Amino acid sequence: MGDDKKTAKLTIDGNEYELPIHTPTLGPNVVDIRKLYGQANVFTYDPGFTSTASCDSTITFIDGEKGELLHRGYPIDQLAEKSHYLEVCYLLLYGELPSAAQLEDFEERVTKHTMLHEQMQFLFRGFRRDAPPMAIMVGVVGALSAFYHDSTDINDPWQREVASVRMIAKMPTIAAMAYKYTIGQPFVYPRNDIDYASNFMRMCFAVPSEDYEVNPILSRAMDRIFTLHADHEQNASTSTVRLASSSGANPFACIAAGIACLWGPAHGGANQAALEMLREIGTVDRIPEFIARAKDKNDPFRLMGFGHRVYKNFDPRAKVMKQSADEVLDLMGIEDNPTLQVAKELEKQALADPYFAEKKLFPNVDFYSGIILEAMGFPTSMFTAIFAVSRTVGWISQWKEMIADPQLKIGRPRQLYVGAEFRDYVDIEKR
Ligand code: CMC
Repeated sequence: MGDDKKTAKLTIDGNEYELPIHTPTLGPNVVDIRKLYGQANVFTYDPGFTSTASCDSTITFIDGEKGELLHRGYPIDQLAEKSHYLEVCYLLLYGELPSAAQLEDFEERVTKHTMLHEQMQFLFRGFRRDAPPMAIMVGVVGALSAFYHDSTDINDPWQREVASVRMIAKMPTIAAMAYKYTIGQPFVYPRNDIDYASNFMRMCFAVPSEDYEVNPILSRAMDRIFTLHADHEQNASTSTVRLASSSGANPFACIAAGIACLWGPAHGGANQAALEMLREIGTVDRIPEFIARAKDKNDPFRLMGFGHRVYKNFDPRAKVMKQSADEVLDLMGIEDNPTLQVAKELEKQALADPYFAEKKLFPNVDFYSGIILEAMGFPTSMFTAIFAVSRTVGWISQWKEMIADPQLKIGRPRQLYVGAEFRDYVDIEKR
């Protein structure tokens, strides 16, 4: 944490308090209020954390005004174009791009951990066949702690490393099994001789009765979806993982908490909601009706896949995703896809509308990802599960960073209490 001896002065009831200001590598300065309660007996108030840095971190940086996303300093568009998911995983976890030997070793470690304990399939069989894959994932990922006790001691760096690799490796297997279970097909075991993205697609789409070859262009698009979602600074699910982990809970349970948070439509659930919305709009002529609804204060409807807490200009991931959508639909020979047409026209009309311009609302990563995933053959219920697979490395990198910090404290926010004042209990017959 940079510290250039700048301070901020705060006056409360005539008393002046001097608060240190920390200078980051990039981004706005941060006023350190950690001692404020002790000195001045006041809390600060920031529901939704719109102005609060909850930790210091060296992993990911976002400049919302410039539309910039950097992992360990490297911009996401360069990573999406030149790198691939497992290399980005290495970068996020260990801080630097790997050498060829380091990458080979990492890929081998991940590959060797892709299988699940055989007993775990009985857990899947306990769910209803129509369970949403995300519901299964929350349960099964939490249950990893019951199967892999030998990597739950967070104070042991070796166990932390094993747990990390296990989760990155097993998450595609779990998501694919959740999918297979809900469509009544046999589980497909992972293969060690194909890459991470192809392996995931094969586990989702192969059946025992025939050979399955993954199209390299689709596998590259899948890998790009994983890469674009790999980490995103202190978003809601990452903060959930950090908060859950701050109590010392085991990593599998904490990642399950992150998956639960990601599920919501304001976060990872937006990719499913966005495609469902585009389908509901159906034809270009209905767009003005939906734009009017999104602007109507009395209507809870929002344009899903639009807007972001941090990006106020454009989402750099959305640009790559839009290009990928064109490539995939082209490859699949899906010309004049009505959903893509609605998406492009909706984007055009919304961006030309002063409401969206004034509020700085732009398509986010989820606006186009659903179109690609649908073209690949995934049902909407799998979209958020795929996001969870991708984001696992981000959650784990942030978790590892936090646990290794000697200043780690349990996360414990305070509140602005506006409830009843002290009152005596009233016996039931007197109420
Ligand atoms: N459609 C219509 N109006 C919107 C939208 C939208 N998608 N998003 C924000 N607004 C309006 C909102 O009504 C508010 O208006 P006013 O100031 O008049 O009350 C203003 O813009 C600010 O909205 P907010 O909810 O205070 O902003 P936020 O930073 O708390 O929320 C958001 C960010 C992403 C939750 C929100 O933009 C949203 O709900 N978008 C749709 C869901 C979505 O696409 N989520 C995926 C985010 S990217 C992937 C991820 O990180 O998981």
